[in-house]
Order: sequence, then C-alpha cells, then structure tokens
Amino acid sequence: AASSYLRGVPYIQVPTSLLAQVDSSIGGKTAINLSYGKNLVGCFYQPKLVLIDTNALSTLEQDYIRDGMSEVIKYACIDDKDFFEFLMNLKISSLSSHYEDIVYKCCNIKKKYVESDERDTGIRMKLNFGHTIGHAIEKYFDYEYYSHGQAVAIGMYNICLESEESGYTEYGTSDKIKEILIKYGLNYNLPNMDMDKFEKIIKSDKKNMSDRLNLIYLKRIGEANIVNKYILE
Ligand code: GLY
Repeated sequence: AASSYLRGVPYIQVPTSLLAQVDSSIGGKTAINLSYGKNLVGCFYQPKLVLIDTNALSTLEQDYIRDGMSEVIKYACIDDKDFFEFLMNLKISSLSSHYEDIVYKCCNIKKKYVESDERDTGIRMKLNFGHTIGHAIEKYFDYEYYSHGQAVAIGMYNICLESEESGYTEYGTSDKIKEILIKYGLNYNLPNMDMDKFEKIIKSDKKNMSDRLNLIYLKRIGEANIVNKYILE
C-alpha cells in the first residue's frame, strides 16, 4: 500500500515475529498474494526505518520461534559456518537470552546481500536456499498446513540431500542440516505428495521464467552458490 498510494509514501517496518525480524522486514520486498500463489504482486520499496525490539519475541508461541529459527539456520548455512556451530552448540533453554545477538547477526548477513544486489538478480538469490522446495510445499498444501519456516526447513534439507548425492556438496552436510533442524524442532522429511503435481508447482515458481531454474546449492556449511539448472523433465 505504501509503495502505491500517491505513487509512494514513506513507511517504517516494526517486525514482531522472529521471521520478520531476521528476514522479511529487511530488504524492501513488498507484495500481496493472489489466489494463484503467494507474493505475486509487489515491488521493491525500501522502508525508511526497520525498528526491531527483540523483547516482542518473548510474547510469541514456540511455533513462531521455530518458524523464524528456520530462516536463522538458513543464514548460517549459506554464509557463516561459525554461526552454524554457535547455533548447534547453543542450549535451547538459553536461546531467548541470545535473541538480540542472533537477530543482529542475521540482519547483518541480509544487509550484505541486499546492499550488493537489491533487485535480486544475483547474489541475493542465495537467500532463497531451501525456498524453491519450501514455496512449493506451502503451495501444495494451500498455505494451510506448513508455515513458511517449516516448509523452508524441509526445503533446505532436501535440496542439500540432492546436491550432496550429485557430488556437488561436501559429504555429511545434509546430516548436519538434519541435526540442527531436529534440534530446533523443525521437520526435514518431504511430506507425502503426488510428485507430478509437486514438480508442476516447482516449474510454475514465479522466479522461473524459462526452462531453467536457479537453485541454491551449498558447497559446504557457510558457503552457497547459485546453480542454474534445466527444469526436471
Ligand atoms: N527473503 C529473501 C529476500 O529478501 O531476498
């Protein structure tokens, strides 16, 4: 609304979920959903300010913390091995006392990608690790059963399994991802789905304008690359 009204009025983001604090409030992606899918009409429109108070997180149900932790784990997977180790070694009972550090770390990683590729035509695409499969799972279940974070968690594990099996990814990486997802109460197995229908959904992803698809593969934990592949036949 802010980007369209009067051809643009200033706006401020005040995110109160973990997922919004670490990801969606930063970077200026705005969109609304259509019946055909999520975030299909929108534009890049940067907020004047993102105001984050991590005290808001203590008011959330655990499901919402889990949901956001999936994106937190994503940042560690694509960009920061030490952060991954930190999350792996963190006692779940002390997670809330580290919210500020975790949010700050993720915001800085996201800032780096957005500043060098605001329009998402290059390096920013790495933030989509796990999202091709994740978005398709959300859509397959009509956005009712899997939250974004849960679907992305499954997506991260399964895309990593695929790239590891193809020899691209360092052996053992998908097991590490599985371990951290279990630790933070996230799913990793693909749900039972009709695979033809699922693949059709992947092919109709809004970012897929040709017969090729940009997938984000990990080389190892902390290092991601964009791999342009022919869509599965
Ligand atoms: N959530 C991914 C991005 O902002 O590019």
